[in-house]
Amino acid sequence: MARNTFGKNWAVTTFGESHGAAVGCVIDGCPAGLPLNTAEINAELARRRPGRDGGAAAVSTPRAETDECEVLSGVYEGHTLGTPIAIIIRNMNTRSSDYDELKDIYRPGHADSTWDAKYGFRDYRGGGRSSGRETAARVAAGAVAKKFLIENGITILGWTESIGEITAPDFGAPDFCEAEIERNPFRLPSKDVEKAAALIKALRTEGDSIGGVVRCRVTGLPAALGEPVFGKLDAALAEAMLSIGAVKGFEIGAGFAASRLKGSQNNDINANHSGGVLGGISTGAPLEFRAAFKPVPSIAMEQQALSKDGAVRLISIKGRHDVCIAPRALPVVEAMAALILADFVLEQRLARVNLPPYADGHA
Ligand SMILES: Cc1cc2nc3c(=O)[nH]c(=O)nc-3n(C[C@H](O)[C@H](O)[C@H](O)COP(=O)(O)O)c2cc1C
Repeated sequence: MARNTFGKNWAVTTFGESHGAAVGCVIDGCPAGLPLNTAEINAELARRRPGRDGGAAAVSTPRAETDECEVLSGVYEGHTLGTPIAIIIRNMNTRSSDYDELKDIYRPGHADSTWDAKYGFRDYRGGGRSSGRETAARVAAGAVAKKFLIENGITILGWTESIGEITAPDFGAPDFCEAEIERNPFRLPSKDVEKAAALIKALRTEGDSIGGVVRCRVTGLPAALGEPVFGKLDAALAEAMLSIGAVKGFEIGAGFAASRLKGSQNNDINANHSGGVLGGISTGAPLEFRAAFKPVPSIAMEQQALSKDGAVRLISIKGRHDVCIAPRALPVVEAMAALILADFVLEQRLARVNLPPYADGHA
């Protein structure tokens, strides 16, 4: 029940259901004096918002939310106070009637049956709190954490690595173009977006959806972040990523591919196969990880579903759903990474007897 709070030193509670009054977060632990304004949080929220532009309409759900937040506490005259920061994002564009038919039917692949089994009483409209809408609160909290990390010289870059079988060039490849990521609705780091557009269009016509992978690279991280043995940086990131709805896989560095390498290949000091983490502690090299998203469960195509009474029904899901969540969920991945890293930057301040700069030359 009491698992809606995340993090230890930089602790975030999210609240709210998809079709309730608002979603929001309370951030406890953000130090005082951080420059922060609402526009910066709104800019991150706009990156997660559906229907960002004409192109995005092809990839995203047409739920037209403005997603402008209200900062209720913890900020005064453009700076954080060191007190809890409460942020809400009102739910404006709910079409709850889309969900009337789903009151007693469990959408296959979604969380309806398990939430019912667990709580017995739930807000089924839009999936309640199991909705992707909850992640707006994470993005708001992540925007503050990102700001804190920037003050510490740490930046996070995310991109869509794949949509179905369409795979982007690797980071550092000649055709990898960082500037392209935020220019196209798929957040692919290459100019070659037509294939993705054609795939999404075809799937939307069929009433189907597709999975994708988000890749993240964090630079400027000092060595020494992470809390062995139960708060290892890679373990904490895995937990954070897998707490995002529809994330089904996490890889750090070479990830599963490392299992096919020889030790002599994997130990390469130039290739960063470790993804910037050794022994659960950052090495100072870029942090590199992936989160794999399954296909969006809510699809318009007719499919079998179980109803509450155990009968099998044929349903076609109405409502406004993404064809591929990965591009839109990318700011959520970045936000969760930012929250973990902010937590560990603060925790590192407790790790040694003396304050930095340390005699051993570490920052
Ligand atoms: C940003 C974001 C947007 C999402 N949008 C949708 C959506 O429009 N329709 C849908 O069925 N699922 C959507 N999901 C996925 C569901 O939230 C998720 O599949 C569901 O909670 C079940 O959890 P699980 O897939 O992790 O088992 C979204 C997830 C995220 C992170």
